[in-house]
Amino acid sequence: MSSAFRCLQCKELFEVIYPSWGLDGNGDSSQRPNPAGLRALWAERKLSTAMLDQSGVWRFRELLPFLDEPKHAVTLREGNTPLYEMPQCARQVGLEQLYAKHQGMNPTGSFKDTGMTAALSVAREKKFPWVACASTGNTSAAMAAYAARAGMRALVLIPEGKVAWGKLAQSVDYGALTCQLKTDFDGCVRVLAEIVEREPVYLLNSVNPYRLEGQKTPALEIAEQMEWQIPDHIIVPGGNLANGAALGKGFREMHALGLTNRLPRISVIQAQGANPLYTSMSRFNGERIEPVVADTRASAIRIGNPASWRKTVQMLQQTNGFCEQVSEQEIAIAKAEIGAEGIGCEPASAVTFAGLKKLRVQGKILPHESVVLILTGNTLKDAEYTIDFHRGTLLKEEELAQLSATERDAIRNLAKPPVLLESTSDAVLRQMETTVRG
Ligand code: F0G
Repeated sequence: MSSAFRCLQCKELFEVIYPSWGLDGNGDSSQRPNPAGLRALWAERKLSTAMLDQSGVWRFRELLPFLDEPKHAVTLREGNTPLYEMPQCARQVGLEQLYAKHQGMNPTGSFKDTGMTAALSVAREKKFPWVACASTGNTSAAMAAYAARAGMRALVLIPEGKVAWGKLAQSVDYGALTCQLKTDFDGCVRVLAEIVEREPVYLLNSVNPYRLEGQKTPALEIAEQMEWQIPDHIIVPGGNLANGAALGKGFREMHALGLTNRLPRISVIQAQGANPLYTSMSRFNGERIEPVVADTRASAIRIGNPASWRKTVQMLQQTNGFCEQVSEQEIAIAKAEIGAEGIGCEPASAVTFAGLKKLRVQGKILPHESVVLILTGNTLKDAEYTIDFHRGTLLKEEELAQLSATERDAIRNLAKPPVLLESTSDAVLRQMETTVRG
């Protein structure tokens, strides 16, 4: 079993080669790790104080066999994120079991850390002077942090004015060379492709196969957190379309190793304004993709020409997953509903719950099925979006006019704008009474 990636700059073929575990029918199956032994080993490492064991990625290092020396790993103790129950949201959509795997609880606040620890460790082992990425904000935040830890130079290309402040702040805080280009994300990818052709710069976008190796580990954590009972359905947001494929890989490998007895269905949800995969699946059966000029307030997934679409189409076909799209209004409401559970997430992550609602209405998910939403980013990443929603300034007149009566009621009940009061206890107590009366 292997996955290959050719470096655009040095033309070297990087390959992730697995020990011959006989997973594909070839190889020596007597070498295959014993599932019960692996489970026990991974659980035991949680009690260890060793750096590698404390990482929720490197804890699973038997499935990450690509560093010359595991101790070369650059880690911020990523992973080990919570799997939360979502009782209010479950009730709302008529599901018995709904969970959120909160990847926003990673060290830099997004799921990118799990892939970054893996790929940046490879870059350091290979002694690249620079690492670089084009990003909608989270990859760059993660790369900047891990590069700083590794003592490497980091080049960030981001679309000017299209990246949430929290993410831009992280990139500069961690000391990356942060270039805001007068283009969109897809334009940044084009510029970076030229740079890595010209200079020895290690590309850390999600086409890098080691990113996906790290990003498959939340699948292992989900299985572990659910006592090795695989949920019926996993739902992920879709942008550059690597993450769903990475999770699919994790679930496939666990199944092949006999750690689990089936695969979950994995569905991908896109924002309507950045929906090339949705269009590809619904119009061309996933055989080709037509790039779009992307536009959505969920800036993390504002991507019109996704690099890893083929891998995601394959994953959807292997797991019988669905692809849906959701509107700006649906994203805004779903995000506030996830917030009201005391959990919160950034807008791109909220497409998962908005998509779940649609799949339930379409009868594609049944009440007894267990569902895990992958919340990819922390609510603090894009505080401006949240404040605008609660103040009622997020959606434009024409968007408000399209709302159904139910959606209008939902927004009215969810919006909790900050109130400005005189500095007296009377004023505050009056406000509390008003809130209780509703
Ligand atoms: N959710 C968040 C919060 C993201 O930042 C991204 C991607 C996605 C979902 C989509 O994941 O690209 O694997 O389909 N962000 C990238 C970045 C593009 O540059 O931070 P995907």
